[in-house]
Amino acid sequence: MDGSVTGDIRALVEPDRVHRKCYTDPDIFQLEMQNIHEKTWIYVGHESQVKNPGDYYTTLVGRQPMIMVRAKDGKVHVLYNRCPHRGAMLCPDRHGNTGQTFKCSYHAWRFNLDGSLLKVPVAEQYEGTRFDLADKQFHMKPAERTESYRGFVFASLSHDGPDLRTHLSGAIRAFDDMCDRAPEGEVEIVPNCFRVIQKSNWKIFLENQLDAVHPSIVHESSGRAALEVEKDIEKRTGKKAPLSYHYISAFTEPFFRWDTLNTMGFPNGHCTLEGYMGLRPKDPDTLEYEAVMEKHYGKARTEEILGVNLHHVLVYPCLSVQSPLQQLRAVRPLAHDRTLTEIWHFRLKGAPEAIYRRSLDYYYLVNAPSTMINADDLDNFWRCHTGLSSQGGDWVSFHRNAGQDPSKDGVYTSVTGMSELPMRHMMKTWADYMTNGGRR
Ligand code: FES
Ligand SMILES: [Fe+2]
Repeated sequence: MDGSVTGDIRALVEPDRVHRKCYTDPDIFQLEMQNIHEKTWIYVGHESQVKNPGDYYTTLVGRQPMIMVRAKDGKVHVLYNRCPHRGAMLCPDRHGNTGQTFKCSYHAWRFNLDGSLLKVPVAEQYEGTRFDLADKQFHMKPAERTESYRGFVFASLSHDGPDLRTHLSGAIRAFDDMCDRAPEGEVEIVPNCFRVIQKSNWKIFLENQLDAVHPSIVHESSGRAALEVEKDIEKRTGKKAPLSYHYISAFTEPFFRWDTLNTMGFPNGHCTLEGYMGLRPKDPDTLEYEAVMEKHYGKARTEEILGVNLHHVLVYPCLSVQSPLQQLRAVRPLAHDRTLTEIWHFRLKGAPEAIYRRSLDYYYLVNAPSTMINADDLDNFWRCHTGLSSQGGDWVSFHRNAGQDPSKDGVYTSVTGMSELPMRHMMKTWADYMTNGGRR
């Protein structure tokens, strides 16, 4: 990146507003991929997606096609999906089992599951050439760094930078909260995911995750309909309606309630939004689950675990995690105006089936592409991107409570629940990554 472009980028991000080019300029998108997504830690997948040796899962890290694979020794590797011979993708499918080795479909070079080259056909024809079976340039290239935390696998396509735990800082709660809620302390992926391609920049999706102003506006009609049915059930039966109605009726909370929620900004752009749905009803399913938890953890620790009150943890720049409901959305930017999200659900190991089904309801009712909730959000993302692509104005406003959020040791706390702190915090981090590798 040359100095003048760096200077230009700094000028695009002000403390309370950012220039529309950050969202709409294709050249800036390429720089984002180079300086953010192909540099910092990006979520690849969960270890339980590749349970057995030879199991693989393919996805994107930045613009790079990658394979997550389990080797014979049980280790999970993340490799570039490219044959070192003439470049063919080794795994064209999303997932599967490759057997004992990867075998390229073009000229049958074969690789061990850690990516090392095993053999090539008619090898004697390479004698006297610069080809060498042991030379790493002829092996599948691994991601520069791969680490996992409690089963969640991340890759970084840069040798430099902090280790995964340091990078995650306050966002590590997402994975602790999700796994701690499992009686066995682990979660397992539920195959497969929903995939949505939204016609908007990836940052518009992230900003919406911690936007506490929008739910009671955008999701009002769905929220009101659910509230009516919820009330009707309670009137007719004299009992609390199933939690799934509350997932949607909670969107009708008035502004003053949203305003009481706590949002925080952590080093490296991560943010959290406090929970607003009561997720501990006193129904038999919940009581059974809490009894199993107490058996594993004891009363005090169970209270500590179930007392964690998070709605979203945003792991910048790649994940929105809803740990109490065991789901996450992985963000894979495709172009300045195209973003793929993978919507995944997890099972708490050792928890009763009813608890799995109950959080699956949230997955289907709120996060799935077929719901009115997600559809309403997607419509706004497209509207925002379309408006920002016009000449109707150059700046995006993040002025709500600007300059008022207190900070201590690099951690920001919102002064009101509806503060645009998360958006300001993410864009400040964005400018740091884009201009000096994330250093502040
Ligand atoms: S391109 Fe893979 S073996 Fe030739
Ligand atoms: Fe929404």
